[in-house]
Amino acid sequence: MRLISATLLLLSSSACLAETVTITSPNGDIIVQVSDDKEQVEYRVSFKDQMVIEPSVLGLVFKEQASFMSNFKIDGTKTNTQRTEWQQPWGEQTVIKDHHNYASITLKNSQLPNHQTNKGWFSELISPTPATLNAQYTLEVKVFDDGIGFRYLVPNQDGFEHIELIKEATEFTIANAHDTTAYWIPARGWNRYEYTYNETPLSEAAHIHTPATFKTKNNVHLSIHEAALVDYAAMTLNQRRPGKYVADLTPWSDGVAVKSDNGLTSSWRTIQIAENAAELLNSHLILNLNEPNKLGDVSWVKPGKYVGIWWEMHINKSTWGSGEKHGATTQNTKYFMDFASEYGFDGVLVEGWNIGWDGDWFFNGDVFSFTENYDDFDINALSEYGNDKGAKLIGHHETSGNVTNYRNQMQDALDLYKKHGVEQIKTGYVADGGNIKRIDENGIVRKEWHDGQFMVNEYLYNVTEAAKRKISINTHEPIKDTGLRRTYPNWLSREGARGQEFNAWGNPPNPPEHLPMLAFTRMLSGPMDFTPGIFDMGFNGLEADKNRPQTTLAKQLAAYVVLYSPIQMAADLPENYLAKRDAFQFILDVPTDWTKSIGLAGEVGDFVVMARQAKQTERYSGDDWFVGAVTNEDARTVDISLDFLDANKQYEAQIYRDGDNAHWETNPYEYVIETQQVTSKDKMTLKLAASGGTAIRFKAL
Ligand code: NOJ
Ligand code: CA
Repeated sequence: MRLISATLLLLSSSACLAETVTITSPNGDIIVQVSDDKEQVEYRVSFKDQMVIEPSVLGLVFKEQASFMSNFKIDGTKTNTQRTEWQQPWGEQTVIKDHHNYASITLKNSQLPNHQTNKGWFSELISPTPATLNAQYTLEVKVFDDGIGFRYLVPNQDGFEHIELIKEATEFTIANAHDTTAYWIPARGWNRYEYTYNETPLSEAAHIHTPATFKTKNNVHLSIHEAALVDYAAMTLNQRRPGKYVADLTPWSDGVAVKSDNGLTSSWRTIQIAENAAELLNSHLILNLNEPNKLGDVSWVKPGKYVGIWWEMHINKSTWGSGEKHGATTQNTKYFMDFASEYGFDGVLVEGWNIGWDGDWFFNGDVFSFTENYDDFDINALSEYGNDKGAKLIGHHETSGNVTNYRNQMQDALDLYKKHGVEQIKTGYVADGGNIKRIDENGIVRKEWHDGQFMVNEYLYNVTEAAKRKISINTHEPIKDTGLRRTYPNWLSREGARGQEFNAWGNPPNPPEHLPMLAFTRMLSGPMDFTPGIFDMGFNGLEADKNRPQTTLAKQLAAYVVLYSPIQMAADLPENYLAKRDAFQFILDVPTDWTKSIGLAGEVGDFVVMARQAKQTERYSGDDWFVGAVTNEDARTVDISLDFLDANKQYEAQIYRDGDNAHWETNPYEYVIETQQVTSKDKMTLKLAASGGTAIRFKAL
């Protein structure tokens, strides 16, 4: 079978040759065609003989130079096939197969007279001046069995020594749009990525963040996102015509999207394609489109579990700021370190330890010191105490979005933690979208977005500076994940969606469908520091209109398996775990690093079942498997086959499930813990309460 072909067609209307490059997935199901037979270069995608992306324009629009839009023709194509596998140092799966067909297509300005076109919404973007003579760019395309990626490479060429990209013209024209459902959060909003997900007809998903998920009438599921976002602006999707999304790059404060003095490499535009929802969960496309580890030996990057002085501030029991209710005291930290050490947690996060939290810290990023502790927090004694007990201090840098203030102190701040043996820092960029405070080289305050090119670079700078000190980073209010953990494995986790904290004070809290929605949307991009495990849901009272987790307790446990992160917090207060010691056992037993992960079943926003095999470590048996299942507001039963288990082993299934009368609203605490002997030949029926869950450890016997 010919996997890649270049077809030459003679256009009747002109003397030039039109060309179409066809790239097929290794299994033949996905076909991508890039063609120059119209005024603009276009691509289209089919899956199992159905069109999923209709002809969609490709191109770039610059501030100074003429656009790369009309009159570009294919000037050469290189192809190859890759069939390799590689290993993650930590992750949801150790061995990742990379099997794809690849084309590198050179597109050159064809020197035809540049005439204006009125076809398409983008015609106003086409520069009236001829494109720079002989200007060229490369389109790289990779087609895997689980989807496609393509990106633009603009070389440093005559006339392009300095580039200011205004716009990408990249379209994603979704076929049969009127029959397609979209799962999405709005882009360019004040709350960054922290919105509840919407499930709507595609036509209502007007301007959205990625990853965005789409379900067609035939149950084909698509996730549009991007991979390897480095030194470029994040892509949002703007629906300009029904079904036709256009890449909308988040601009700098001066309106330019991307600036460069050395050519341009866009991030990969990705479309994951699956024949049902669960299959989307088994895609490694985003990781495969990232570059290999650039940090060398990363044995110092450690997955693990942690507790911390955190939830108590969110529920108002203590404060970040100093005073009588100060949470980050020496005594309180020791209490957490004792608890962590006794129950085998690796770290203790302490927020509110440094000067600057007094007053309204949301708006006071200017006054944060990242090197000076409050008087009642003895950083010397505590780091030593934690190191001795094997429950290490986890650092915290909240910037409140004042990134210049952080940048000015970053070296000293990282050195301080390094000196104290801190191996992991949680960072925070709390500020409204578009309100990141940057002070430019002339001392002028500029307001940037969290996902513009400036911040894309700023987050990565923080991660690479931390790596120099063997420190790992967990970013809150981050740039979205585009798989850079492969290249920089010390970028352990991040937030980038509504986390548990919204259940303390969100307006409203996360709805029952939130977790099965996250699984098929945000989680497709990478690990999330959601911070599961709230056992006392009644801190405000249990009424439905109060802030509280809208889940059962068993669902809080299942979240540890469903939501992947190499670091997982046991977010509640120690006393609440000790009050339900039997259920707490699951949190103690569940690992955070896996040999294998499988999406077993699910529907977007309704329910999801994940199975994961523990990675062999000193602490965890590599023979054990874990299953997590969660549902939305509807109680349901889900049948699963245990054929993922080792066929030669017997297992004790330790099941933590909803009680028969459990219900998130009226009876969240009713859970049952029971055991059952099983093998890979068995089937199980999981009975999930309304907004309930099941968590299972399959202990190999
Ligand atoms: C927002 C983070 O998501 C949260 O975890 C943290 O406690 C606060 N910022 C304060 O830094
Ligand atoms: Ca947050």
